[in-house]
Amino acid sequence: MAAESGTNWVLTVTAQTPTNIAVIKYWGKRDEDLILPINDSISVTLDPDHLCTTTSVAVSPAFTHDRMWLNGKEVSLSGGRYQNCLRELRSRASDVEDEQKGIKITKKDWEKMHVHIVSYNNFPTAAGLASSAAGLACLVYSLAKLMNVRDDHSRLSAIARQGSGSACRSLYGGFVKWIMGKEENGSDSIAVQLADEKHWDDLVIIIAVVSSRQKETSSTSGMKDTVETSMLIEHRAKVAYTFDAGPNAVLISHNRKAAALLLQRLLFCFPPNSDTDLNSYVIGDKTILKDAGIQNMKDIEALSPPPEIKDNQTQKYRGGVSYFICTRPGRGPVVLTDESRSLINPETGLPK
Ligand code: ADE
Repeated sequence: MAAESGTNWVLTVTAQTPTNIAVIKYWGKRDEDLILPINDSISVTLDPDHLCTTTSVAVSPAFTHDRMWLNGKEVSLSGGRYQNCLRELRSRASDVEDEQKGIKITKKDWEKMHVHIVSYNNFPTAAGLASSAAGLACLVYSLAKLMNVRDDHSRLSAIARQGSGSACRSLYGGFVKWIMGKEENGSDSIAVQLADEKHWDDLVIIIAVVSSRQKETSSTSGMKDTVETSMLIEHRAKVAYTFDAGPNAVLISHNRKAAALLLQRLLFCFPPNSDTDLNSYVIGDKTILKDAGIQNMKDIEALSPPPEIKDNQTQKYRGGVSYFICTRPGRGPVVLTDESRSLINPETGLPK
């Protein structure tokens, strides 16, 4: 750090990173500390316009310790996973120079300089939508930019993996594979892009965020109930589906036309409570609603039972779903250069 630059400067970077949903699941670790999985996994990165994390990071000689604020509240960075990411990034940092501001940070300076991290998820953490995947990927990506870490995305994915396993897949857009790797030190457990987001751009992903009022049901009894009572079970291969660790259903439709028909059925079976606003009941890509011919709540009430159901026996579960998110494959992380998007006050280095 140049002595002449003083201690009153703050250097910031802001980045946005998507979340992802695995279709071949990561479930089970062979190393808990390094977060090494027992199998490869494959995911779709979701459009960050609908689901993403935005993180600003800053460095200043005036900072006394590493600090982080998540969704408006200061949180501790003392956890091993955050510490592993910070240590890995610091060890790979390079010289940073901003001639205009008279700032020079050498590779060696990074060992003793502290960072501030301010992060927001644009979707409710309570939704159980793997916010840590987008969050840790964004933390690693933004700090790597700030610290001028020159490693490629795959190497960064191995660092993000140590923060949260599935975060490694959020370093890429489109369709991503996390290769489990064989090395004991985890160096080959990295994510790679299989195809970008344009490869299958009419794929639609509908996430049913279930109501927190839903009763807990064990998988065993849930499966039994489904077989015994569901009129839809024989038709379930109409649509691909997956679940993360939480109860929210993620439904994947191969094109927009099929997605519109699916949304009609979902809204028929899970109509909102009467005081709900359609705009907050179906969020994300609203064009699917339009394609489904639904413009207001009356259109939902007027939906006919799905034609494949005999004898009108489909039950309605009003209020069982809190809201639906319609989304699609999306891009990977980006740096936001517009200063107004920064979450950090450039004078104080604190959250805006
Ligand atoms: N965990 C959940 N969301 C996060 C975020 N945005 N940043 C870091 N950790 C997180």
